Amino acid sequence: MKIVMYSAVVLTLLILSGCGGDSRSISSATNSVDDKLRAKIDGFGLSGDPSKNRDIPAITDAKAQLGMKLFYTKALSLDFDAACVSCHHPLLGGGDKLSFPIGAEAMDPNLLGPGRLHKNTGNSLFDGGPTVPRNAPTTFNAALFDVGMFWDNRVESKTGEPGANGGSADDILMPGTSDSERTESLVGNLPATQALFPITSAEEMRSFGHAELQNGDAVRHYLADRLSGANGNTDLSDAARAAWLEAFREGLNAPDANASTLITIENIASAIGEYERSQLFIDNPWKSYVEGNTDAISEEAKKGALLFYSGYDEGGANCVQCHSGDFFSDGALYVMAVPQIGRGKNHDGSTEDYGRANITLKSEDNYKFRNMSLLNISETGPWGHSGAFTSLRSIVKHMLNPDESVHNYNPYTELKQRGIEVQCNDVEVNTAHALEQLHINRQKGISPHQNVDFSDEQVDQLVAFLETLSDPCVQSADCLRQWIPDPRSPNFELLQQLNATFQ
Ligand code: HEC
Ligand code: HEC
Repeated sequence: MKIVMYSAVVLTLLILSGCGGDSRSISSATNSVDDKLRAKIDGFGLSGDPSKNRDIPAITDAKAQLGMKLFYTKALSLDFDAACVSCHHPLLGGGDKLSFPIGAEAMDPNLLGPGRLHKNTGNSLFDGGPTVPRNAPTTFNAALFDVGMFWDNRVESKTGEPGANGGSADDILMPGTSDSERTESLVGNLPATQALFPITSAEEMRSFGHAELQNGDAVRHYLADRLSGANGNTDLSDAARAAWLEAFREGLNAPDANASTLITIENIASAIGEYERSQLFIDNPWKSYVEGNTDAISEEAKKGALLFYSGYDEGGANCVQCHSGDFFSDGALYVMAVPQIGRGKNHDGSTEDYGRANITLKSEDNYKFRNMSLLNISETGPWGHSGAFTSLRSIVKHMLNPDESVHNYNPYTELKQRGIEVQCNDVEVNTAHALEQLHINRQKGISPHQNVDFSDEQVDQLVAFLETLSDPCVQSADCLRQWIPDPRSPNFELLQQLNATFQ
C-alpha cells in the first residue's frame, strides 16, 4: 500500500513538472534543446526582465499624461504640420512602418504610416522621396536605454551606467551647434534629452522656413513661448494656451505656478520623455520561457534561440555577442553594411551615410551604427538604419552574412514592388564602401562578426525565435489605447492633436 502511494506521488510530480513547472530535470531525458537553452540562459545570466531595478513611470502618472499631450500635438512643429506621433505611433510599432519617415510637408499631415507621402514643394529640396535620411526607430522601451540614442548614439551617456537610463543632465552629451560639437544635456535621462532634437530638425518638425530663428535653441524657446504665451506669442488662441497651462499644472503638480515658469523647453522635453519611458512592452513569450514556462515558445523558436545564443565554434550565429542581455543590445556601434538607400547623412553632400563618423569625424568610425534592441522586433519594420529591409527574414539573412545579402540586394524587389518610393541612386556604390569597411575591420580584428551560412530551415528558426520577443500588447489596439489620447476629450481639438487615420 505504502509503495503504491509513493509511486502515485512521483507520478503526480512528473505530470506537474511536464505542465510548465520547473521542468529542467524532467526535460533532460526528453528534450535536449530545452536543456541546452537553459544552460545558455544561465551562462549569459539572463532573467528575462530588462526592467529590473529601474524606476519606470506608469502611463497613468500625471507627468506621462502631460507628455502624451505634447507627443501628439502639432503645436510643437513651427508650421503646425507634424508631431512626434507622425513618425512614432503606438499602433505602428512605435514607428511608422515606412523605410524613411515623412514629418514636415506631408501631402496629408493626418495620414500616418504607409501612404504618407511628401508634398511636392516645387523646390530643389524635394526630389520625389522622403527628405529624412534614416529610418524612424521605435520609441517603445525608451526607459531601457543606458548607452545612447539615435542610430549613431549622438545623444549619449558619459557613464552608460546600467539601469540609469543615461543619468542626469551632466552625465549626458548631446549635439550642440552641430552633431560633432556636443555639449552637456539640458535635461536628465536619454529620452528627455533626445526629445530636444526632432523639433529643431527641418525635415522632421521645424520645416524649412523661419530664417529668423537661427539655431536650435531659438526654435526651442519659440515653441515654449507659443504654448505659454511668453514674449507676446499669440500663435495659439487664448483658450488653447489656457488648456496648456492647465495641462502643465496638472502634469507637474504645480497648481499655482504661472505659464512662463512652468512651460519651459526643459519641462516639455522631460514630460515627453516620461510618456516614452512609460511605453514598457517586455511581457513576451521568451520572457515567460526564461522565467521557467517551458511551453511558452515553440520547438522551432527554441532551436532558433539556440542558434542565436551559440558561438561560431558551436555552429551558432553568435547574435548574442552584440544583441546581449535581456534588452538584446549592448548599445555599441558596429559596421554591418546594411544597404545604403535614401538621401544619406554626411558633411560632404553625397548620398553616403557615414554613421558614427558624422559625430566623431574619425574615419575609423565610418559606417558604424548602433546595435538595436530586438524587443518587439516583429512589429518595428522596415529594418536597418535605412529601412532597407522589409521582412524580418531578409534582415536576419543580412545579419548572418552581410556579403551575400549585399550581393543579392535588389531595391526593386525589396522596396519598390511593395510601393515604397525611396531614393536608390547610389545604393550599390555606397553599400560597397560600407562592406569594404566591414572587411577592413575584420582584418584588423575590430569587428567580431563572422559570416555564417545557414539553411532556409535555420533562418526560419531564427525568425521564429525573434517573433517570441514581441509583447502581445503591441499587437493589440485595445491594449495600446492607454498610450493614445482619447479623441473625445474636451481639449482634443484645442490641443491640435492629430486625428490620424490608420491603415
Ligand atoms: C519625421 C519623422 C519624425 C518625427 C516627427 C519625430 N521623429 Fe523621432 N526619430 C525619427 C528618426 C528618423 C529617428 C532616427 C534619427 C537618427 O538616428 O539619426 C528618430 C529617433 C528617435 C528616437 C531614438 C530611438 C533610438 O532607438 O535611439 C526617439 C526616442 C525619438 N525619435 C522620439 C521622438 C520624439 C519625442 C519626437 C517629437 C519631439 C520625435 N521623435 C519626432 C523620426 C521622427
Ligand atoms: C557585430 C554585432 C552584431 C551581430 C553579431 C549581430 N547584429 Fe544585428 N545588428 C547590429 C547592428 C549594429 C545593427 C544596426 C545596423 C544598421 O542598421 O546599420 C543590427 C540590427 C539588427 C536588426 C534590425 C534592427 C532594427 O530595429 O531595424 C535585427 C533584426 C538584427 N540585428 C538581428 C540580428 C540577428 C538575428 C543576429 C544573428 C544572426 C545579429 N543581429 C547579429 C549588430 C549585430
